[in-house]
Amino acid sequence: MESKVALVTGSGQGIGKAIALRLAKDGFAVAVVDYNAETARQVADEITQQGGKAVALRADVSDREQVFAAVEQAQQQLGGFDVIVNNAGVAPTTLIEDITPEIVDKVYNINVKGVIWGIQAAVKAFKALGHGGKIINASSQAGHVGNPELAVYSSSKFAVRGLTQTAARDLAPLGITVNAYCPGIVKTPMWDEIDRQVSAAAGQPPGYGTAEFAKRITLGRLSEPEDVAACVSFLAGPDSDYMTGQALLIDGGMVFS
Ligand SMILES: NC(=O)c1ccc[n+]([C@@H]2O[C@H](COP(=O)([O-])OP(=O)(O)OC[C@H]3O[C@@H](n4cnc5c(N)ncnc54)[C@H](O)[C@@H]3O)[C@@H](O)[C@H]2O)c1
Repeated sequence: MESKVALVTGSGQGIGKAIALRLAKDGFAVAVVDYNAETARQVADEITQQGGKAVALRADVSDREQVFAAVEQAQQQLGGFDVIVNNAGVAPTTLIEDITPEIVDKVYNINVKGVIWGIQAAVKAFKALGHGGKIINASSQAGHVGNPELAVYSSSKFAVRGLTQTAARDLAPLGITVNAYCPGIVKTPMWDEIDRQVSAAAGQPPGYGTAEFAKRITLGRLSEPEDVAACVSFLAGPDSDYMTGQALLIDGGMVFS
């Protein structure tokens, strides 16, 4: 593949990091974007040390200006713009009666508005460059089926699927495809925190929440971040050219849809 440019948000750790490393391996020059500048730099360094091309950029995806600035910088520093992966997300557990306006604002600002700003910034770049591109959004199995104790998170991931479908229809005339990936239970710092909170709420030790959720995994094991990165690799590459508006489940068989 000729050297294309991909930007991955929330790629300082977890799934985003695995996606950045995988896309670099696939031949992309990668903009590693995170609001943690230090972890973003570490991931970009790792890619460079492995012989790839990468830049680290700090941006908070809930801030529209920062997302547009990151896409512009990626385009300037890496010499093009072809793929955006709107991966950054947060997942606090929320019992219905404990949901506060602050939690809703925080989760929706990052998980939903962050995806909208990413889509807009990518469209601006693709138009300026005079070609189409690929937009890839992070949803979840929790965006297909409501998950217990995750009302705000689950609903934000349903919203990402809605955005993905709508943007696919609106942007097809520009040669832009829009798809989403829907992981299950992935071994990342995010999941560790969900497990801690769900286990504590049930009065159980850490690991209890994971064991409860894992009962629903057909393949009988938790996901590695690399399992998800492989799915995103497909969505970022030419083999998915005839696919748009889809939300691919990569969850070991938790949800059949
Ligand atoms: N871990 C799972 O089991 C799982 C399952 C389904 C979907 N997902 C989704 O996959 C994506 C990545 O999840 P993860 O498990 O790797 O999470 P994680 O918490 O381990 O990592 C998230 C990264 O995003 C960054 N980030 C958070 N808010 C940001 C913001 N406002 N601006 C820029 N960067 C920000 C963090 O600094 C961190 O580096 C999320 O959208 C998440 O909802 C995760």
